[in-house]
Amino acid sequence: MKDYKQIIASKINAPLDNAEIVSLITETADDNFGDYAFPCFKLAKAMRMSPVAIAQKLAGEIALDNDIVKVEAVNGYLNFFINRQDFINDALYGVVSCGDSYGNDVIGKGKTICIDYSSVNICKSFHIGHLSTTALGSSLYKIFTALGYNVVGINHLGDYGTQFGKMIVAYKLWSNEQAVREHGVAELQRVYVKFHQEEAEHPELTDEARAWFVKVEQGDAEATKLFQMFKDVTLRDVQEIYDRLNVKFDSWNGESFYMDKMDEPLQMLRDKGLICESQGAQVVDLSDYNMPPFLLLKSDGSSLYATRDLAAAVWRKKEYDFDKCLYVVAYQQNLHFKQLFKVLELANLPWAKDMVHVAYGMVSLEDGAMSTRKGNVVLLRDVLNKAVAKSLETIVAKNPDLENKEKVAEQVGVGAVLFSALENSKIKDITFSYDRVLNFDGETAPYLQYTAARCNSILEKAGMSRYAKIAHDPRALDNIETLRLSKLIASFPQAVKDSALKYEPSIISGLLIDIAQAFNRFYIEHRVLSDNLSEQNARLTVVEATATVLKKGLALLGIETPAKM
Ligand code: ARG
Repeated sequence: MKDYKQIIASKINAPLDNAEIVSLITETADDNFGDYAFPCFKLAKAMRMSPVAIAQKLAGEIALDNDIVKVEAVNGYLNFFINRQDFINDALYGVVSCGDSYGNDVIGKGKTICIDYSSVNICKSFHIGHLSTTALGSSLYKIFTALGYNVVGINHLGDYGTQFGKMIVAYKLWSNEQAVREHGVAELQRVYVKFHQEEAEHPELTDEARAWFVKVEQGDAEATKLFQMFKDVTLRDVQEIYDRLNVKFDSWNGESFYMDKMDEPLQMLRDKGLICESQGAQVVDLSDYNMPPFLLLKSDGSSLYATRDLAAAVWRKKEYDFDKCLYVVAYQQNLHFKQLFKVLELANLPWAKDMVHVAYGMVSLEDGAMSTRKGNVVLLRDVLNKAVAKSLETIVAKNPDLENKEKVAEQVGVGAVLFSALENSKIKDITFSYDRVLNFDGETAPYLQYTAARCNSILEKAGMSRYAKIAHDPRALDNIETLRLSKLIASFPQAVKDSALKYEPSIISGLLIDIAQAFNRFYIEHRVLSDNLSEQNARLTVVEATATVLKKGLALLGIETPAKM
């Protein structure tokens, strides 16, 4: 693809360096006023003229050629018209020739990114509160991979802490192997909830739980066996969800992995004089930074979530030598990560600046249901099943003859749920509505999948993949709908880079919606299949380029594109 900003900048004779000129050039919002604009306001001082006069003067000096075919001075702006036929041709054939690798890059070559995401807690079922971290983290994994980074996906399991002592007591009192085998995590959760109810009246349960947790820490055989069993049961349960969501991890090192790796970083902080005692506990004082103390060891010497995160950060740097370490965790933990990163900075670790908390908002269901401590959890499995069942209804109604309806319904239902977590700026709270996310005409994954499937069916009718290679008539592409669509398609590689830079897959999802809408406008205005073969070939390229970008973009969001719908 030609770099039009560069081409234009080289033609502007202004007292600014080239890089600054390039940075001032923008794409026009309205294509009636050209394709690119350069504002002259910044030049007024240096050139001692009004911006309007400057624009007029500079416009007269621009050398037109085959790339830049027209320039106009309007209200202090220079408006440039590019050779649109060439642009469209380059954009569309660029996509078609790249295929699935369109948007890939090598900017990440030699760099490593750790992404800590999903990070579920043992003995708890996978509920809707885990959707965002899982969808966002997995999408960022795919985006960074496409950009050439070496990515390490980490599921920092919540598999350590006093709650496992409680879990053991609860299990021994009220459950058994048979029940757990039958009901899985639901059974574990049942007795865990019961423990909390009973604990109020039987405080001795708390002491028992504490004793059992000490046994876990000391490696007692029975405690270890039970703890491992709880972990296996939970992992089996969540794996089923990860498989459906097509989410993968390179490491499952959770909190318990750091059990024997906390002393070293704690000693390092002590050696640097950062740890002080407060009511018997060991803390890092952060009052100079307007934050509460970072609690690292309780008065009884036991570690905390924070201690394990400190150890994990140090261990990951040693193990992976990352260039960035991301934590995809809800904004409720803003303070925790601010404290953690500050402590690393105070310890003079040069990589403290490479730690990023990728915070996101909350998900609640339309009817107000949200996961709470006591029961009332909305299981992600149930949400997926319901979304898939509803998709199946729509598919059966729309296309009763479709083969593999169940498989397509799974792709559509799961895709819709994933997309709901990736369509808005991640920090926004979202209210999940089945009707909205499954609307085939809305700004949804099913709409994108449906548009891609429509493209495929046009290509199939034409006898796929001949057109790009044989003669086509570029004049068939010289229209405003194709121009707008081509511009959006051409901006995809930059959108992929931006989404990585801002940790914001919604930049991709938003562009895909724009592309699908622009395609549907193109399709209303222009007949693709016709007797005029060279015209048809040209327009089939539009269709193929659209299908390619939609599929690739959806893949970066972790969403599959059914061939037919
Ligand atoms: N298990 C934690 C939770 O559910 C999230 C862990 C996030 N990762 C981390 N390194 N702190 O809240």
